Amino acid sequence: TSMSEFLARVPKIELHLHLEGSIRPETALALSVKNGVKLPPFQEVKDLYRYETLEEFLAIYTAVSDSVVSADDYRRITYEMLQSCAGSNARYVEFFFSPQVHFPNGISFDTQMDGITAGMADAERDFGIVSRAAPGVNRELGPAAGEELLDMILVRGDQKLIGIGLDFNEAPFPPEPYGPLFARAREAGLNVTAHAGETGPADFVRSSIDSLGVRRIDHGYHVVDDEDLMKRCRDEGILFTVCPSTSAVTSPWHDLSAPDHAIRRMKDFDLKVMINSDDPPMFFTDLGGEYEKAAGPLGFSPADIRTSILTAIEGSWLDEETKKDWT
Ligand code: HPA
Ligand code: ZN
Repeated sequence: TSMSEFLARVPKIELHLHLEGSIRPETALALSVKNGVKLPPFQEVKDLYRYETLEEFLAIYTAVSDSVVSADDYRRITYEMLQSCAGSNARYVEFFFSPQVHFPNGISFDTQMDGITAGMADAERDFGIVSRAAPGVNRELGPAAGEELLDMILVRGDQKLIGIGLDFNEAPFPPEPYGPLFARAREAGLNVTAHAGETGPADFVRSSIDSLGVRRIDHGYHVVDDEDLMKRCRDEGILFTVCPSTSAVTSPWHDLSAPDHAIRRMKDFDLKVMINSDDPPMFFTDLGGEYEKAAGPLGFSPADIRTSILTAIEGSWLDEETKKDWT
């Protein structure tokens, strides 16, 4: 249909995407064989990506991450991730990666960054896709480990490292202890965002804004449980990077076509939401597929889709000049 064509063609921005969550099952298998790293047991390689909760997902995410070892492995997964984004007509991508998952395997931040920046450069050359990276601070590992990661980011001083995120399991890991780390990151000129309200309560959305100083929330679905907070987020123009396929697995809103689905309610309340793909192959989707879900079961009109893309440009960490050019 013409709607599908519009969705496929419209130039997109991706702001919520995890590098290790973008590893194709075939690539996970190839890397695990090459590096002699064991994956969890599976019958067919696509069956590796099965889970019903955030915890189960994160266990597989971590196991698959372990198969990435050399700088060239990083180059490959970065390139393949951006190739898939380009296939959905994404022109600009801000992606997370999880450096701390790889430290126990003896892989340094510099090795990771060498491969990632090579993959970014190759993808820009081959597909014209522009990208920037944001290490995700693993909230399960505590603020001290996060501060060490921030030191590495600042020492590296790479122009392509433009921000930090906060991810992994929410409960029982509230945002507040990460306040000083986020303040230091902001003072150093890094942009900040945080996962909140995916499995954690609305309060985690509020405290991410208040204690971490973020203007962007990744997921944020539980904001709908707190109407005052919804009003505040609308007034303050907080941007929510929502991910339909992930929401249907890890949040309580499993049915995307339900009238009370959190993403639909956020959009209907005029919160700033934009569509993203999170961990596409791990949820059997891609960015174009997430737009299909928005325009289909989630009830986004063509105008809503357009608004969400313009909102993404505004909420992105592009410089102001480029933002003007693109709108
Ligand atoms: N939530 C928390 N941590 C993550 C996710 C997510 O959706 N994807 C990758 N790491
Ligand atoms: Zn995420």
